[in-house]
Amino acid sequence: MLTLSPKAPFLYKPQNPNPKIQHYKPQINGMYCKSELQSERGLEFETGETFFRHESAKGRDLAVLAASLYNQSKGKLRVLDAMCGCGIRSLRYLMEAKADFVLANDANDEHRRVILENLKRVDRGFGDERKWVVTHLDANRVLSECYLQKDFFDLIDIDSFGSDISLFLRSAMNTLSFDGLLYVTSTDGHSSGGHHPDHSLAAFGAYVRPMPYSNEVGLRMLIGGAVREASVLGYYITPLFSYYSYHGPVFRVMLRVNRGKLLENRHYGFITYCNNCGNSQEFSWAELGQISCSCSGSHGSRSLVISGPLWTGPLHSAAYISKMINLAEEWGWIGNGAETDLEKLLKQMLDESDPRLKSGYIKMDEVASRAKINSPPLRTMMSAMQKVSWYGGFNFPGVVIALLDLQLTLIILTACREGYATSRSHIASNAIKTDCPMSVCIRISKELQGVDSFSV
Ligand SMILES: C[S@@+](CC[C@H](N)C(=O)[O-])C[C@H]1O[C@@H](n2cnc3c(N)ncnc32)[C@H](O)[C@@H]1O
Ligand SMILES: [Zn+2]
Repeated sequence: MLTLSPKAPFLYKPQNPNPKIQHYKPQINGMYCKSELQSERGLEFETGETFFRHESAKGRDLAVLAASLYNQSKGKLRVLDAMCGCGIRSLRYLMEAKADFVLANDANDEHRRVILENLKRVDRGFGDERKWVVTHLDANRVLSECYLQKDFFDLIDIDSFGSDISLFLRSAMNTLSFDGLLYVTSTDGHSSGGHHPDHSLAAFGAYVRPMPYSNEVGLRMLIGGAVREASVLGYYITPLFSYYSYHGPVFRVMLRVNRGKLLENRHYGFITYCNNCGNSQEFSWAELGQISCSCSGSHGSRSLVISGPLWTGPLHSAAYISKMINLAEEWGWIGNGAETDLEKLLKQMLDESDPRLKSGYIKMDEVASRAKINSPPLRTMMSAMQKVSWYGGFNFPGVVIALLDLQLTLIILTACREGYATSRSHIASNAIKTDCPMSVCIRISKELQGVDSFSV
């Protein structure tokens, strides 16, 4: 096992750095904090002149929970924190997730004093017992050097800016242990908003157009980019959790990377939104020639906006989120009566993990505006959607029971859908994730508001 030493020859800065990679020097945007003592989950650290955001604490909490779960199930944990800033994540991986070893890297060598000062709280150790090392290399270089020396890591965390993550995905996957975790970040809100389709195509291989749920598209674009890189290497990925935060904006995804293929490109396809009727659909590669909307008629397909290829599968693994919730409870981070932001987020993620839910979400404002009514309350709307059956009405069981004998009714009821899947979205507060088409949402909302009820 290689343990990097700050004296290793490859620590020199690259002679010919990629011009796309940003300058590492502090810039003017107020995020580069003046040195002061900070505290997170009871750990004190300083930030010096590094880039540090309090608002990212939840993203760090989620990462530490995942790292600790990995350690508990595999009995080992080596972490590469490729863009460590002041080193807070490295410190938390060491102290909270009990990592065996952390390589804390940040290209800016002016951060060195602050990182060392923060990590000093953990005994550094010697030789094979070494707990942590600090380097100052371009992320691709540190990843590639580790890969070449067969020095693999169980969790690689790349907290990069813009869409730069696409530059690091391949070297990160190469450097990951089998069944390892890759925690990736993008802050490219322009691409997810569909404002730079050529850029999203270059970075993530996805032509992204403006859609009403662009922040969820941002997560799906990031996961889709990772799916593509993984498949080049003969791997497939599973998103364990996906987290959007409006500050930044920041898109974070924890991926598990395994050897093998994504079955028939499942969950890697195209999403459409119809500007005419407001309906969204998913299309596979095999359906590419058949993309249309049932409302089209005189509008043809001109009203359709198509984005992709993107990840179209679940944003989180329900089983994994349940384990995170249990661990967070065990650590006293949640479940103390007062619902914390983390608790709310994890519960919403659990709800969002239902595999029946389609990509995107339906904003209540859009439903209200299309239905020309005041929006019904979100909860009322969700429970009505859950009750409605495939035929589109609310009183089906009662009517059928009156008309048919009980046994036949039961057979029919079993064959019928239970109703639509619904969940709140952790991304947008007044929106519903669902498999219910917009036209049905409009009819339900009208019924709830006592308008046009018999057309439901
Ligand atoms: C978002 S900040 C990291 C914040 C930190 N992870 C945290 O949670 O507080 C990104 C860091 O990446 C560093 N950086 C930028 N480009 C890099 C590159 N190509 N390789 C390594 N580090 C880089 C910057 O110096 C900066 O400190
Ligand atoms: Zn349509």
